[in-house]
Amino acid sequence: MYKVNCLNPIAKCGTDLFGDNYTITENTNEADAILVRSAQMHELELSKDTIAVARAGAGVNNIPLDKYASEGVVVFNTPGANANGVKELVIAALIYGSRGIIGGANWCQENKADEAIGKTAEKAKKAFAGSEIKGKKLGVIGLGAIGAQVANAAVGLGMEVYGFDPYVSVDAAWNISRAVKHITNVNDIYTDCDYITIHVPLLDSTKGMVDAEAISKMKKGVIFLNFARDILVDEEAMVKAVAEGHVAKYVTDFANPTVVGKENIIVTPHLGASTAESEDNCAIMAVKQIRDFIENGNVINSVNYPRCDAGLCQYESRVTVCHKNIPNMLTQFTGLFAKLSINVPEMVSKSRGDYAYTIIDIDGKADASMVDEISKIDGVLRVRIVK
Ligand SMILES: NC(=O)c1ccc[n+]([C@@H]2O[C@H](COP(=O)([O-])OP(=O)(O)OC[C@H]3O[C@@H](n4cnc5c(N)ncnc54)[C@H](O)[C@@H]3O)[C@@H](O)[C@H]2O)c1
Repeated sequence: MYKVNCLNPIAKCGTDLFGDNYTITENTNEADAILVRSAQMHELELSKDTIAVARAGAGVNNIPLDKYASEGVVVFNTPGANANGVKELVIAALIYGSRGIIGGANWCQENKADEAIGKTAEKAKKAFAGSEIKGKKLGVIGLGAIGAQVANAAVGLGMEVYGFDPYVSVDAAWNISRAVKHITNVNDIYTDCDYITIHVPLLDSTKGMVDAEAISKMKKGVIFLNFARDILVDEEAMVKAVAEGHVAKYVTDFANPTVVGKENIIVTPHLGASTAESEDNCAIMAVKQIRDFIENGNVINSVNYPRCDAGLCQYESRVTVCHKNIPNMLTQFTGLFAKLSINVPEMVSKSRGDYAYTIIDIDGKADASMVDEISKIDGVLRVRIVK
């Protein structure tokens, strides 16, 4: 029986997919796997039993990825599972950033006691007039699961869309409308676009990437949307640019003291993926990935180990190894089975940065002594018999 601990509430449609072989435990220390949404894990020491962490969502800055990788703990996320939810809110933000929808709705609320509100509204409405997005230029920085959907939807709404992503995945690229213009220098987005939306992950390389210099290059009157992470943007500089009228609106999904309560800054409380559908999709994807890892040893959508998929095991046993990405590991694994006269009909090994993961299918019964022998090899972080 495998034990799973949920550090945050996880949608039941997901946890229901753990079959009879799984139980949900309140005790993190006895968990084989952990499901998490936004709970901070940086201070959390995992027990030796924990082999996997799955984040039901995309961002993983609440999880110490490298530390867990060094302990042989595979961390998963659920890329794309909440992309539609975020895309819909970004499209809404393009429109509520351009029209006085929020101010107008607030005005109606504030004037609820006015018996003649119908008439007064006709006079008041000119304060909430806006502009349409059709025909305007939208720059999308980051064309992953969310950015690609935003770009396509904006094309559908008649916008001229420019996309910048030097590392775009083949999968994402296939799904991007041909109407999206490929931009190779982000400065072209800054200088040319009426609207800019950012959809990159928070990494050392992207932190603060929209800095004062980038903002100064933007077209006067630009509307900037941030539904990725607040610290991608130098928000002090952004607030200044909005106050000076260089940026017409900053629309962000991340509330913090720098941005709330400021004129022409529209803040929502991290609502991007706050839909029943997104939460369900993330939970379902996270649970399926954890099960595939526990039961088959496959690593799909990990953020600290390479993708490594050997499908279902067709042989007598399967052993998996988390190890360092250093020379001579595979020869030592196969050498060990050769010494035991056990055939290795299939082996898949992948690396990512400092770490690697190997799935070894064998024509023989895997046992604890093999695990001990492999564990003794320098650079091996965790060994598991999955079949
Ligand atoms: N507001 C919300 O509720 C919410 C919900 C989900 C995700 N997010 C945020 O949105 C981000 C994007 O999510 P996603 O699912 O689209 O991720 P993703 O990994 O599918 O896509 C990110 C894209 O950014 C690109 N990229 C990386 N560095 C870049 C750079 N310097 N310049 C341009 N492109 C770069 C990558 O190549 C990739 O294509 C997440 O990392 C998360 O921070 C927010």
